[in-house]
Amino acid sequence: MNLKDKYIEFFVSKGHKQIPSAPVVPENDPSVLFNTAGMQPLIPYLMGQTHPYGTRLVDYQKCVRTNDLDSVGDTTHHTFFEMLGNWSLGDYFKDESIEWSFEFLTKTLGIPVDRLAVTVYAGEGDIPFDEVSYNKWKSLGISEDRIAKTVEDNFWIAGESGPCGPDTEIFYFRSTDTVPEVFDPSDERWVEIWNNVFMEFMKDKDGNISLLPKQNVDTGMGVERTTAVLEGVLDNYKSSIWSDVIDLISNISGLPYEGNEKSMRIIADHLRTAVFISADPSGIKPSNTDQGYILRRLIRRAIRHAKSLGIDEFSDWEQQIARIIINKYKSYYKELEENESIVLDVLRDEKERFSKTLVKGLREFEKVVNNSKLIDGESAFHLYDTYGFPIELTIELASERGIRVDEEGFSKRFKEHQELSRTASAGKFKGGLAGDSEVEIKYHTATHLLNAALKIVVNKDVHQKGSNITSERMRFDFSCDHKLSDEEKMKTEELVNKWIKAGIDVTVEEMPKEEAIKSGAECMFIEKYPDIVTVYSIGDVSKELCGGPHVSNTSELGLFKITKEESSSTGVRRIKAVLIDE
Ligand code: ALA
Repeated sequence: MNLKDKYIEFFVSKGHKQIPSAPVVPENDPSVLFNTAGMQPLIPYLMGQTHPYGTRLVDYQKCVRTNDLDSVGDTTHHTFFEMLGNWSLGDYFKDESIEWSFEFLTKTLGIPVDRLAVTVYAGEGDIPFDEVSYNKWKSLGISEDRIAKTVEDNFWIAGESGPCGPDTEIFYFRSTDTVPEVFDPSDERWVEIWNNVFMEFMKDKDGNISLLPKQNVDTGMGVERTTAVLEGVLDNYKSSIWSDVIDLISNISGLPYEGNEKSMRIIADHLRTAVFISADPSGIKPSNTDQGYILRRLIRRAIRHAKSLGIDEFSDWEQQIARIIINKYKSYYKELEENESIVLDVLRDEKERFSKTLVKGLREFEKVVNNSKLIDGESAFHLYDTYGFPIELTIELASERGIRVDEEGFSKRFKEHQELSRTASAGKFKGGLAGDSEVEIKYHTATHLLNAALKIVVNKDVHQKGSNITSERMRFDFSCDHKLSDEEKMKTEELVNKWIKAGIDVTVEEMPKEEAIKSGAECMFIEKYPDIVTVYSIGDVSKELCGGPHVSNTSELGLFKITKEESSSTGVRRIKAVLIDE
């Protein structure tokens, strides 16, 4: 059994319910591009909402972290990883959490106690030293010399604000040297493998700390790192997780791993992440913004490194690698199999798009660097605009030659370009050539009506969890613990259509966020909005914080029809619906 299966089995035996991995692109949190930790999709529950699966949860969550994207190529960095987590939502706290971590590591995984050490929170300001955790570790047989008290690394929060708390981190001695008696967290032979956060605080964006309604536990263990540690390899890419992918890259290129590690790691890591992003239900495609831009950068950087290994761009190398990744993970993530052809198309299309300009772009790059110490903003922009070189790629190529890129100059030029295209598209819009956009605006307004109708027909506590609109249909995710009955669906449709027929005006006003909330306006994530917000009202049917745009009267929408109702994730249902011209 692999680490993932053992972990799930262990915590299920301790009364935890397994919850499915949430999509890698968060559906209800516009403040982050990707889920970066197992706790992220659980934030509403850590803040007090009741979870439909109960108070003890366990999962493996697909995570993407791109802040270190350019560090990938060494032995430890990855842009995608799986995080194992177990949670207590106001159920058990420090004692059980530590006890079970210890039992899992020493009994299930058979790690000798002598190779383990821990850190606990030393205390600072109003938050005291975590004596309970300290004593618990001691009682389990960890010597005082192996329990370090620190402040900085023992308080965990995702980003700047949100649920948080002191944590205790567990380290494993990864070296053939004799294990030192005294634990020094800065000694790199000690590798952190598990983090148990005792989440009892909430930090708002002004830095104020308050108590959460309940004391929770949030833990995280990275599958890649822990597997490498347990298998005794110093290079993560030599663990069983990667060996078949690396072997395949070696076969395709006809080169050994040794001596070509950096490019092979980049290809393996970036394609795996690209596979997971493009298989996600969010339907991300390579583009020049947000998640799409990350996907583009990953694929293009992988292609550049494949080229540097001499891999034939006309072969289907990227398809072969993607297939091996899909096969490896599909029993854990069904979307990989369901969306296999989408993933393969995304990779092939992006490769074809980039390959067309890559050779010419590299030639242009050579011209630009010719004897200079700096690539100016204009040239970097030219490489981006004409040859599709993400700026990060130009920077990477330049740094391989010891040359700098004028990033500020690039940004300035880039912004000018954006302004131009924005003005151009606004002009198009005014001229009545909006095309699809008009349809999308209608769907946007229909989303508000659907949200309001579900609150009346299903439950007043229904909340929006995400939405996605194309010119063909709308998709709406909402909190709900059951499959909608035919009657509920019918009544929802009837209500939305009644409001459409009634021809209700849609109005917009600006107001301070607090006032908007007080007036009962619906919003998804209050802390993410600016201080002054726009509120759209549809008569007295609906009032939501929203950026718009919307139609001015509901009569413009046509006939509303639900085409599908299905599960989206735990406790979240998904409706797809269309508007039919009448
Ligand atoms: N949320 C904690 C982490 O990511 C467990 O380390």
